[in-house]
Amino acid sequence: MLKENSEKIILVSGIKPSGRLHIGNYFGAIQPMVDLINNNQYESYIFVADYHSMTTLYEKDLRTKYILEIVATYLAAGLNPEKVNIFKQSDIPEVTELGWILSTVTPVPVLFLSHAFKEKREENLEKMKDVNAGLFNYPILMAADILIYGADIIPVGKDQEQHVEMARKIASKYNRAYNVETFKMPQALIKKEVATVPGIDGMKMSKNKGNVIPIFLSQEFTLEDLKKQIMKIKTDSLGPDEKKNLEDNLIYQIHKLFLNSDEDIILQNKFVNSSKQNPYSYKEAKEEFLQTILKYFGEMNKKYLYFTETEAGKKELMKVIESGAKKAKYKANLMMQKVRRETGLDFL
Ligand code: TRP
Repeated sequence: MLKENSEKIILVSGIKPSGRLHIGNYFGAIQPMVDLINNNQYESYIFVADYHSMTTLYEKDLRTKYILEIVATYLAAGLNPEKVNIFKQSDIPEVTELGWILSTVTPVPVLFLSHAFKEKREENLEKMKDVNAGLFNYPILMAADILIYGADIIPVGKDQEQHVEMARKIASKYNRAYNVETFKMPQALIKKEVATVPGIDGMKMSKNKGNVIPIFLSQEFTLEDLKKQIMKIKTDSLGPDEKKNLEDNLIYQIHKLFLNSDEDIILQNKFVNSSKQNPYSYKEAKEEFLQTILKYFGEMNKKYLYFTETEAGKKELMKVIESGAKKAKYKANLMMQKVRRETGLDFL
């Protein structure tokens, strides 16, 4: 994806701070994003979607906590704040202004199609009154997040694909309404192999389903808690010395996310060659999986605790989001000046 005038490709992504991050978030969204950014020369805007969290979370302290945890996770996972603008969405209130302007060109039927909204509405069939207008407008604010920085690519998990499509639709509605070419068409970038990470019950791993494996150990989620969670991974009742398949083998499906192809083959062989001579029980598989997790996230976990639990780390984190916000604000303002002019709001 080369551009003619040697301008950098613009990358934008965010995560909503509405719960503790889990390995589904890590492998589906965070890791592909970090890989992409570290291996390319992008101009990147990575934020915490705190305004978006307001559609479902009304506890102020929890919101603050989740915001800080996400920034700490970005840093621990390897984003380099010297190269990436890391910030929180609400430090750029211009995004809500653009959200309003975009709402005036967004057809209501487009919003009715949103999966997130449909799901909520189905849960609350009798209680549409519980679906707040913010939730309904969620995709518009997300479009504003993307369009305000002139994004080309949006690395996200599979669940956000539809939202990026909607951002394209909204961008072209605006361009057509004002006869301009202000907004580019952003493209979602989704890592297909890990499009959906299963939870310990086999359903999609999801913050609000209690079927998650958190990324990091902390005082709130200890090694004991991690062990318990892994022991709860659903299995069938095959005995230790029986051969096990791979397809609906949840331990395998989750464990393989951590492995390179050689390690993956070794693990596959243990399951499919399990026999009287070479038994590989689910219990042993779970114990090995635990060791893999601890090794994989060990170093990151230390950095995470530095940023969340030490005074020096917390200070550093605050500096990162302060300087990220400055740069993002500059960029957002350039776009808003253009938008205000071409919509006739500004005319001097
Ligand atoms: N909707 C995303 C989530 O639930 C967060 C988000 C908000 C986002 N605005 C965005 C992601 C813009 C990518 C680009 O995590």
